[in-house]
Amino acid sequence: MTRILHLSDTHFGTERKPVVEAALDLARSLAPDLVVLSGDITQRARRGQFAAARKFIERLSLPVLAVPGNHDIPLFNLFARALNPYGNYKRALGAVLEPVFENDGLLAIGVNTTRPRRRKDGEISGGQIARVAQRLRQARPGQLRVVVAHHPVRAKVDSDLSNLLIGREHALDAWKQAGVDLVLGGHIHLPYVLPLDPSAPAGGWIVQAGTACSHRVRGNVPNSVNVIARDGEGGCHVERWDYAAGTHAFAPVDRTLVAL
Ligand SMILES: [Fe+2]
Repeated sequence: MTRILHLSDTHFGTERKPVVEAALDLARSLAPDLVVLSGDITQRARRGQFAAARKFIERLSLPVLAVPGNHDIPLFNLFARALNPYGNYKRALGAVLEPVFENDGLLAIGVNTTRPRRRKDGEISGGQIARVAQRLRQARPGQLRVVVAHHPVRAKVDSDLSNLLIGREHALDAWKQAGVDLVLGGHIHLPYVLPLDPSAPAGGWIVQAGTACSHRVRGNVPNSVNVIARDGEGGCHVERWDYAAGTHAFAPVDRTLVAL
């Protein structure tokens, strides 16, 4: 069994403490192969907020793959934004903005879709698309092939169309050809699972996570995380776990079989 715990948009600085503890409890009980943090790790990219994120990662004591979100670049500090936009991020999370994790059952490739010159929109370059595709092609048999980006590549509701990653169609074409299984994202605080290509649902899936622990929830969508599990026969499920204030714990609320 290969398991990923997918957390997004933690927005440290706006975190709900009991929800953070519940996320740690869930991580401990699942003991996943990898914890994915798909960006907006902090609210305003401040040192103290990254320090809280760092502490959370240390308490996880599990392999973590993180990519930056638009909130992880200073917004109001224009000098930092221009001269060293990822300075605080790198101090807390390491110098690599596009990390790769692999074991026998999993290849996960991070891609940085933030752009300091843009306020919140994300973009992917031809070079990034090609690098990810090349790495996907090097996957070993038996590895689940996962790409992690902050910005979503498909919308579930029309109001999110303006939030989609710039360059996504080229990226999805290239990555589909290279055999991607899952593209993980966040940014819009709305969890959902969609086929990459609705006409060929065995050709890869989009997995979006809500905000794991921030009070900046969207409408009445609670804090949530995804648990992705692939069994020995190759069956893969994406479970959405929501935080329930009554029990102070995350619990599964939805399960999607993703044909690969
Ligand atoms: Fe974001």
